[in-house]
Amino acid sequence: KAPKAMATHVGAGGETHQTAGEGTPAMTTQQGLAVSDDQNTLRAGARGPALMEDFHFREKIFHFDHERIPERVVHARGYGAHGYFELTDSLADVCKADLFGKVGERTPAFVRFSTVAGNKGSADVVRDVRGFAVKLYTSQGNWDLVGNNIPVFFIQDAIKFPDFVHAAKQAPDRDFPQAQTAHDNFWDFVSLSPEATHMVCWAMSDRAIPRSFRFMEGFGVHTFRLINAQGKSTYVKFHWKPKLGLQSVVWNEALKINGADPDFHRRDLWQAIKTGNFPEWELGVQLFDDAFADSFDFDILDPTKLIPEELVPVRRVGRLVLDRMPDNFFAETEQVAFCTQNVIPGIDFTNDPLLQGRNFSYLDTQTKRLGGPNFTHIPINAPKCPFANFQQDGHMAMHNPKGRANYEPNSWSQPAGGPRETPAGYTSYPEEESGPKLRQRSETFADHYSQARQFYISQTPVEQTHMRDAFVFELSKVETPAIRARMVSHLLHVDTELAQGVATGLGLSPLPAPAPAARPVVEGLEP
Ligand code: HEM
Repeated sequence: KAPKAMATHVGAGGETHQTAGEGTPAMTTQQGLAVSDDQNTLRAGARGPALMEDFHFREKIFHFDHERIPERVVHARGYGAHGYFELTDSLADVCKADLFGKVGERTPAFVRFSTVAGNKGSADVVRDVRGFAVKLYTSQGNWDLVGNNIPVFFIQDAIKFPDFVHAAKQAPDRDFPQAQTAHDNFWDFVSLSPEATHMVCWAMSDRAIPRSFRFMEGFGVHTFRLINAQGKSTYVKFHWKPKLGLQSVVWNEALKINGADPDFHRRDLWQAIKTGNFPEWELGVQLFDDAFADSFDFDILDPTKLIPEELVPVRRVGRLVLDRMPDNFFAETEQVAFCTQNVIPGIDFTNDPLLQGRNFSYLDTQTKRLGGPNFTHIPINAPKCPFANFQQDGHMAMHNPKGRANYEPNSWSQPAGGPRETPAGYTSYPEEESGPKLRQRSETFADHYSQARQFYISQTPVEQTHMRDAFVFELSKVETPAIRARMVSHLLHVDTELAQGVATGLGLSPLPAPAPAARPVVEGLEP
């Protein structure tokens, strides 16, 4: 529809003035004062100096000067959409969360997809992990499932996260690369961290160059707990399975796409949703108990390991549909704050050392990124169920306690007395804990190669070739020969042909000795 013609006039200098009225709202300052001229600063004489008194100019420029907020320290480049989660198979026997109780029940959702290493303005189709963060606005509070498109992670303990991210992002002296894994620091760090081998294999696979967000899987990565109405705990791994299936591009396509359209993934999501092709994922759960956890070769608390789907099939219990783009990118996608510690009754943590560290990190960083402790007052972050507490003040406080009381217990009757505790509120799973206080990794975390090997041999020959070529391409950008050789020394534990192929591609001869392995490779499930 063509916009309604607006009254216009040309100013003394030939500039265009469009006038409010007949359905066109009047422009005002932030104080609500109607603006008569937005084309000219206040000056002493038409050709004279600008006047300090021009409050409209100063307010406008002041606001513009403050438009940028710090980008996320990781996952800076992202794109989000609204939608809903609908339950298709009740989990009421194992989980007391309302959203998992009644089949057909819908829960509003907001999802943000992201790359990890690139800055906010970097390209979409780079070789990288993708974030898959889901905020579920449940009737019992917000539950955030802050996952990735790869089911495992590079490190086992959150204390290594700053080192990993520093090594993966720009080097401090040269400030490049912005978005690629191809540099010495990244490969130096991962080759000195045998625990990264499994994830590095995924990162060198086709999974790391998805066709679009719509063709990606998502994973909660950590083992979480579901708690039922009787207080019984069941371990769970969360999966998102794309309705369109899994698709990637190949490397030379990725390079061309990035050159032609660095916004390829965000444009794809925008166009799909705007044309009514709503992307959809199934929520899958792998459920298992303590007996399985104890019998499994790997530690279920170790985020560099997955639970093979052959051992514990993925049960599909619901669908996630994205059907609405944000009205405003900044207000919603940029200001949304996901956090692993946002859980609801029925969902609980395990002692995965990476998860425990994440539970601290997100709130801490968002307090800085979003300017203080009140970012849950921003509509995208606020729960959609009733909420009330005695937290008050701070920068940008939008809702403070009403009435006299800002503490409890108190003697004041309602409504002045404010909110109180409820027995139906969140209680943590009473896991028994004991043991000496130590800085020591569990020896159950020591097998760094068996699952990397299983992953490699589960790939088709074409995919294996892509992996080998990716290792060769990325490592060929590494200038330090010792780092290349060290990486190949790990690959010798994954697959000798892969290691040999990479060494040949790099012109590395003779082959280095295999890296010292804390645990021998276990030949596990063959696909
Ligand atoms: C951001 C996933 C590990 C710290 C994110 C985001 C995702 C994500 C998806 C983007 C959220 C968004 O779209 O706004 C993961 C996964 C991990 C992992 C799956 C491992 C399994 C960690 C660890 C830490 C960490 C170990 C720190 C100890 C952060 C921080 C942000 C972030 C600081 C930026 C948050 C913000 O500014 O809003 N992560 N992450 N992550 N992650 Fe992680």
